[in-house]
Amino acid sequence: MVNKVKAAVVRSKNADVTLETILVPDPGPGEALVDILTCGVCHTDLHYKQGAISDDFPFLLGHEATGVVSAVGPDVTEVAPGDRVVLNWRAVCGECRACRRGQPQYCFNTHNATQKMTLEDGTELTAALGIGAFAEKTLVAAGQCTKVDPDADPAAIGLLGCGVMAGIGAAINTGNVQRGDSVAVIGCGGVGVAAVAGAALAGATTVIAVDIDAKKLQRAKELGATHTVDSSAVDPVEAIRELTGGFGADVVIDAVGRPETYKQAFYARDLAGTVVLVGVPSPEMTLELPLLDVFGRGGSLKSSWYGDCLPSRDFPTLISLYQQGKLDLDAFVTERITIDQIEEAFDKMHAGAVLRSVVEL
Ligand SMILES: NC(=O)c1ccc[n+]([C@@H]2O[C@H](COP(=O)([O-])OP(=O)(O)OC[C@H]3O[C@@H](n4cnc5c(N)ncnc54)[C@H](O)[C@@H]3O)[C@@H](O)[C@H]2O)c1
Ligand SMILES: [Zn+2]
Ligand SMILES: [Zn+2]
Repeated sequence: MVNKVKAAVVRSKNADVTLETILVPDPGPGEALVDILTCGVCHTDLHYKQGAISDDFPFLLGHEATGVVSAVGPDVTEVAPGDRVVLNWRAVCGECRACRRGQPQYCFNTHNATQKMTLEDGTELTAALGIGAFAEKTLVAAGQCTKVDPDADPAAIGLLGCGVMAGIGAAINTGNVQRGDSVAVIGCGGVGVAAVAGAALAGATTVIAVDIDAKKLQRAKELGATHTVDSSAVDPVEAIRELTGGFGADVVIDAVGRPETYKQAFYARDLAGTVVLVGVPSPEMTLELPLLDVFGRGGSLKSSWYGDCLPSRDFPTLISLYQQGKLDLDAFVTERITIDQIEEAFDKMHAGAVLRSVVEL
């Protein structure tokens, strides 16, 4: 059977998001059909719309979602109809060289649904990050469903599906922030503020939030930043050094992903410190650094895909911390909107007015 549902689609580069009827196949082997409850609007959706990720239009946007499994393919055992799930965009294969050596968080062959969702005329859709959850139903690989506690607010925990997990994971998994560390986070949107919260959760004693927007800095303070730096007014490298005894931070996280913010991160870290790039650059961006500085400053320069998370390990843990009041996921949900308000949500994101707008389906 094919399911006809309402969904948010971008047909061509920079076109407005339109509401379309799409066709979602019933699940085949290895697949799950999910009724979407909530889906956050992430900057990566905007990158898709702008053609910065690929040219495979039309895109079915949305990828930070909670839902209820409504049907599974014949061989699927990990989830069953009725399960409350948070969707993830890295369903690990279990067979590639990373998985085989016990590091599935780096899986090089992650799975998505095999069957394609289409427009009514049969045009194949590219689902954002293999999810496509600005839709009443979506089709994913069963491994993209992580079973979660049905009592937790879907709007809040769904954000673990992308931005919040990417940020927290950039701090605790990729950056390996330790108790007593100093951490600076450049760019405090949904991802960056989550990195701030992750650093605080890991026990960092100095957490410096950097942004060009004062509203973002205020929110970062509420989520665990001990200091804030407005980099539209002052040199962030100098400010971070000043706040860390003249040395620089142990871990600096670039949650913007531009050459200038990466350079700030590079020079704002202490000798032997770690830079984590979690913001996604666009294809035309290049970086020039004195190679002697790369060598001489030691430490490590890392990139963080999805916060190097393992959904089966990290989602339930973070949801439990949320339920215990140790991680304020509610603070990330700035507004709840309907599926026809995604363009406005992009405008608000651009204006810095929201951490996350969450679509309720
Ligand atoms: N690596 C991953 O797995 C992953 C996952 C999700 C999102 N992302 C990426 O993370 C980035 C941030 O996403 P988001 O949803 O938080 O976006 P957002 O638009 O909510 O936040 C971006 C923030 O950066 C600030 N900013 C912009 N330019 C700046 C500058 N020059 N200096 C300091 N701050 C600056 C903005 O004011 C804003 O607060 C995006 O590039 C997104 O694609 C990466
Ligand atoms: Zn693998
Ligand atoms: Zn995202």
